[in-house]
Amino acid sequence: MSKPPQGAPIILDIGSGYVKAGFAGEPNPSHIFPCITGKRKYKSVMVDAGTQMHDIYVGDAAMKLRGVLNLNHPIQRGIITSWEDYYEILNHVFYTLLRIENPQNHPIIYVESVSEQKDIREYIARVLFETHQFHSIIMIPSPLLSCFSVGLTTALVIESGVGITWIVPIINGQIIYRAIQRLELAGIDINHNLELLLMREGISLSSSASSEILRQIKEENCYFALDPDNPNKTIEKVKYPLPDGSMMEIAPHILYQAPEVIFDPSMIGSNSPNLPEAIIKCLNSIDKSYWGDLLTHIILSGGNFLQNGFKERLELELNSQISQYGPIPKPHKIETERQVKTLQPVKSTKKFHDTCPKCGRIVDLSDGKIECPECGASLQITQIDIEIKNLAPLKCPLCNKEIDDKTSLFCPYCGHKLAKDRPEVLSSSDKVPEILEYFESSSKILHFFLPDNLQTAIFKGASILGSLPSFDQIFITHAQYQQNREILSRDISEIFSLHF
Ligand SMILES: Nc1ncnc2c1ncn2[C@@H]1O[C@H](COP(=O)(O)OP(=O)(O)OP(=O)(O)O)[C@@H](O)[C@H]1O
Ligand SMILES: [Mg+2]
Repeated sequence: MSKPPQGAPIILDIGSGYVKAGFAGEPNPSHIFPCITGKRKYKSVMVDAGTQMHDIYVGDAAMKLRGVLNLNHPIQRGIITSWEDYYEILNHVFYTLLRIENPQNHPIIYVESVSEQKDIREYIARVLFETHQFHSIIMIPSPLLSCFSVGLTTALVIESGVGITWIVPIINGQIIYRAIQRLELAGIDINHNLELLLMREGISLSSSASSEILRQIKEENCYFALDPDNPNKTIEKVKYPLPDGSMMEIAPHILYQAPEVIFDPSMIGSNSPNLPEAIIKCLNSIDKSYWGDLLTHIILSGGNFLQNGFKERLELELNSQISQYGPIPKPHKIETERQVKTLQPVKSTKKFHDTCPKCGRIVDLSDGKIECPECGASLQITQIDIEIKNLAPLKCPLCNKEIDDKTSLFCPYCGHKLAKDRPEVLSSSDKVPEILEYFESSSKILHFFLPDNLQTAIFKGASILGSLPSFDQIFITHAQYQQNREILSRDISEIFSLHF
C-alpha cells in the first residue's frame, strides 16, 4: 500500500439539485451550489456590458444569468445525463472553488448513489485518476454516510433530495441491498405539484425565474399537514412578489397540498407507491426480527425533509401502518452496544442543539444541558470519539502479536490484512438472530434521528469518516485500481466493523 498524501481528503457530493463540496474534518461543505450549467442563448448578449464572455457558466453564475442562458441540469433523478456538463462541474469544484493546486496531494471521498452501476463507478474513477490526477479515491454510497452523520451503524435511512427518495436499511454497517426502495418522488415533485395547484387557481408562472419562485414559495411557506383532509392550521393567504412588480396571492390550502404528493403521488399523475407504502415494502423484504432495530433508528436525510411537519406526518402514517403487522421484536442487544453516540468531525464547533442518541428528540443545548429531558440519555459532546472498547483485544492471527490500534486494517508487525479476521456482521438473510422480546405497543417503537442539517448530513458523514485515524488506508490508489477494478465495488461495511 502506498504512502497516503498529506492534503486533507476532498469530499464531493454531486446531487440532482445541489453540489456539496469541501474537505474532510470540516463540519459543513465549504461550497454548496446549484448543479446547473448554462450556455449562452445569443452570442451578442452582454458584449456591451464589457463583461468577459464564457462558453459555459456553472452553478451560481449560471443561476444569476439564467435569463440569457440555456440552462441544463446534468444530473437528473440521480443519473448523469450530460457527461460534458458533469466534467464542467468537476472542473468548477476542483479548480475554481477548492483551488486545488496539486491533486496528487489529495484523496477524494466521492459520494455515490446506493445503486450506482459498476461501469459508471469505474468510469468516474478513471476521470478522477486520469483526467484530474488525484492520488487516491474512495466511493461510498450516501446512506452509509447519513448513518455516520448521526453516529449509527444500524438504521433505516430515508434520504430525499431533489430527484429521488431512497429507503435503505443498514444493519451493522451492511446495506441490505435486496430491500432498498427507490422512489422518483422528491423535492422536484413538490415543486411540480405546487405549480399545478397554482395553475388550477389561474396563476401561471412563465418567466425564466419560475422554478426559483416555486422553490422559494415551497421552502418558505409550504408544510405537511397532519391530516390534509382536516388541517387545523389556519394560515392566511400568502403574498409573493413577482419579478414584474405584481403580487401573487396564494390560497392557504395550496401550502399543505403541494407537499402532499409525497403521500399521494397520484396528485401529479404518478403511479409510484407513496412513501409509507415504500417503507413497508422495504421492511417486508427483511426478516421481522430486524424490524425493531430499524424502526427505532430511522434517519431522515436530504434537503427535501426540511419541509415543515414532515417527521410528525411520517410518524403518524407509519404508526398506523405498522400496527397492522402484529408485535414487533425489540432491537438486538449487540446493536445498542455497537452504537457510537458522539461522533463529530474533528473541527466541529459548539452545537446549540442536538438529537438525543436514544430517543431522537431534538434537545436545546444553549443552557449547557447535557441530558435529554425526555429520556435522560447523556448528550455530552466530544470531538471524534470512537468507541472501540466493546471490541475484543485485537491479535494478529498470523504473528499473534497484540495490536494497540484496534482500528488498524493491517498488522503493524507483519503487515497481515486484518479485515477478514474481524467479527462477521450480518452477511446473509439466513443468519437470523433469536427474538427475545417484543414491544408492548406499536405506538412507542418509532425513533427518528435527525442530523443537525438534513441537507448536508451526507457531507458531514463523509467528513467524520475522512477524519478517522486509519481511514486513509482504505483509499484506493490509481495503481490499485489499474490492477483490479473490482476493488472499487468492495463491501464498504468493513470500515464499520473495524472502527466500531
Ligand atoms: N426549508 C426547506 N423546506 C423544504 N424543502 C427544502 C428546504 N430546503 C431545501 N429544500 C429542498 O431540498 C431539496 C434539495 O435537497 P438536497 O440538496 O439534499 O438534494 P440533492 O442532493 O441535490 O438531490 P438528490 O439527492 O435527489 O440527487 C430541494 O428540492 C429543495 O427545494
Ligand atoms: Mg443528494
